[in-house]
Amino acid sequence: MLLLSILSLAATAIAAPRAIADCTRSVLEGATADYIAAQTAGSSAGIKALSTSLNYTENDKAATVATGILATALKIDHTKSTYDLTACATYTELIITDTKLPSVIGTQMRFTNGQVTKMQTLVTKKGDWLFDPASTLKWAKTEDWTTIPDAKRDTRAVIQAAADAYLDIFKDKTVKVPWGTPCDRLEGGSYTGKGTATDSCNVGIPNNIDLVNRRYVIDETLGTVDVFLSFGGPTGRPDSHEFRIESGKIRYVHTLTVMT
Ligand SMILES: *[C@@H]1O[C@H](CO)[C@@H](O)[C@H](O)[C@H]1NC(C)=O
Repeated sequence: MLLLSILSLAATAIAAPRAIADCTRSVLEGATADYIAAQTAGSSAGIKALSTSLNYTENDKAATVATGILATALKIDHTKSTYDLTACATYTELIITDTKLPSVIGTQMRFTNGQVTKMQTLVTKKGDWLFDPASTLKWAKTEDWTTIPDAKRDTRAVIQAAADAYLDIFKDKTVKVPWGTPCDRLEGGSYTGKGTATDSCNVGIPNNIDLVNRRYVIDETLGTVDVFLSFGGPTGRPDSHEFRIESGKIRYVHTLTVMT
């Protein structure tokens, strides 16, 4: 009897934390791998972590994975994923040059108890801001978004603050942005730099534009933050700004803006 109750106590102690200790890098990596495979296959069926009560949007409109972009098989040239273990969320960038549906796609997934409960996708295509997937691919391949060594990592707060400063200066020109040198901005398919040591991202930002409704995915190990936002006020264009921060300064910016 005593042994049994000790055993059952022990079982409870082991089982209880399991439900909440499920936001690990390997869970998030598994889900993004499934997501990329699903987009390649044209079916969401293989995304094992997908919740039955998934909240899914495409270009900020309610949609379904069964009828949305995931239902189209795409030949993907390039992918990049980042992992936020604090918010339990991921961001994945997909570049597709194939003539079937040239597109650059950004997807944020958010997890609850190990399941994807929210998925937001931006699909940019012909007609969207500076759309040129061959150029996006060319430049993305030259960049270094690999793991930042432990000793050089920025905190979550520093990474987010750098992104917010950049996004705030669209409205408020007094904001101090921690520009890096070099810094390169890949805006749709347009590159601000030439891939040289003196490249600058401080090359003209429009005035008086509110970037609101910001949704963050922050990965300290990669020094990245992706921000989904509404470009130009609450009913503005669906937009993603992704940043790579190195030693507190902006190294790369990738943008997607849906116009159509
Ligand atoms: C999905 O989430 C959005 C917020 O991101 C919310 O406005 C919307 O009501 C949700 N949809 C459903 C069906 O819960």
